[in-house]
Amino acid sequence: MKKLGIVCCIIMLCGMFSCKHKEGEYHSLKEKIEEEGKHYQDPGISSEAYIGDINTIEIREGTHTFLIPERKGQIKSYACTECHSKPLAQMQNEPGEQKAHWDIKINHANANAMNCATCHNGNDMDNLHSLTGNTIDFNRSYQLCAQCHNNQVEDWKGGAHGKNIGGWAKPRAAMTCVNCHNPHEPQIASKWPARFNTEKVKERK
Ligand code: HEC
Ligand code: HEC
Ligand code: HEC
Ligand code: HEC
Repeated sequence: MKKLGIVCCIIMLCGMFSCKHKEGEYHSLKEKIEEEGKHYQDPGISSEAYIGDINTIEIREGTHTFLIPERKGQIKSYACTECHSKPLAQMQNEPGEQKAHWDIKINHANANAMNCATCHNGNDMDNLHSLTGNTIDFNRSYQLCAQCHNNQVEDWKGGAHGKNIGGWAKPRAAMTCVNCHNPHEPQIASKWPARFNTEKVKERK
């Protein structure tokens, strides 16, 4: 009983002292982050300078609102309707029809799961389309990817997959899937480090 009393006393004393904290000490980690974070909420910090003259569009996905680069201005053969002025089936059955897009090969999902028509609509070539037939704008092609790669898209929305252009300060701008992955062959080629360490050792001499 006596022992317990001493232990209680010590606990109470500790409690008293830890409450009387010195300057720069906090009750909890949360309080510390909030207090010291005030310093960083300076509206003068902006990512705008890094975005520069990249043409961006704003997207809103769930609780996330951010900018991504515009794509249509970057796609060489856009607008598709410069040639695709009639349904694809008709174009492909014309006498003397020429082969186009021989440079595009699919190296993505296997042929049972994917062909050109999985993403492109032969009757409306200026837009992409979902597996259920909904129209998807070329500027929002991440919606196409989300059908099969939802995990990566969810990570990307929060900033864990892909890359921000500039920093985390507002306005947040992030690269979109097709800035890094060619939709026809999305593998990222493996790379060597820019320079081998042995070279650096030599340079230091
Ligand atoms: C310079 C003319 C031209 C432009 C521009 C063009 N296409 Fe085509 N495309 C063709 C022709 C001709 C065919 C039919 C012959 C063939 O299938 O190779 C074709 C066929 C296709 C096919 C069917 C391929 C297959 O094997 O079934 C797809 C998909 C397609 N185009 C997508 C596009 C998209 C998307 C764009 C725009 C981003 C585009 N094309 C722009 C000329 C063009
Ligand atoms: C997984 C979906 C998907 C499949 C399958 C697919 N494409 Fe595409 N394709 C896209 C997307 C997305 C773009 C736009 C990429 C961008 O923003 O740069 C595109 C762009 C294109 C373009 C314009 C390229 C340029 O730089 O001018 C052509 C042409 C095209 N696709 C033809 C085809 C053909 C032909 C096939 C079948 C052999 C095919 N695509 C299969 C998603 C797909
Ligand atoms: C219809 C479903 C489907 C769509 C739509 C789709 N993918 Fe895929 N993707 C697959 C499948 C299936 C694989 C193969 C998975 C595997 O090998 O584990 C794959 C593989 C990949 C890989 C891994 C490649 C590798 O081998 O490392 C990347 C990256 C990728 N897709 C990116 C994209 C992007 C970007 C888009 C949108 C432009 C997209 N995918 C749209 C089904 C899809
Ligand atoms: C800044 C470039 C970049 C952007 C943007 C990007 N990715 Fe990736 N992605 C990568 C790299 C790098 C890898 C890893 C490749 C490797 O390990 O070989 C990868 C891997 C993947 C894989 C293979 C599985 C995995 O997680 O390793 C899939 C699927 C994928 N990305 C889908 C997407 C989709 C969908 C988007 C758009 C929402 C996207 N990526 C945006 C660079 C990017």
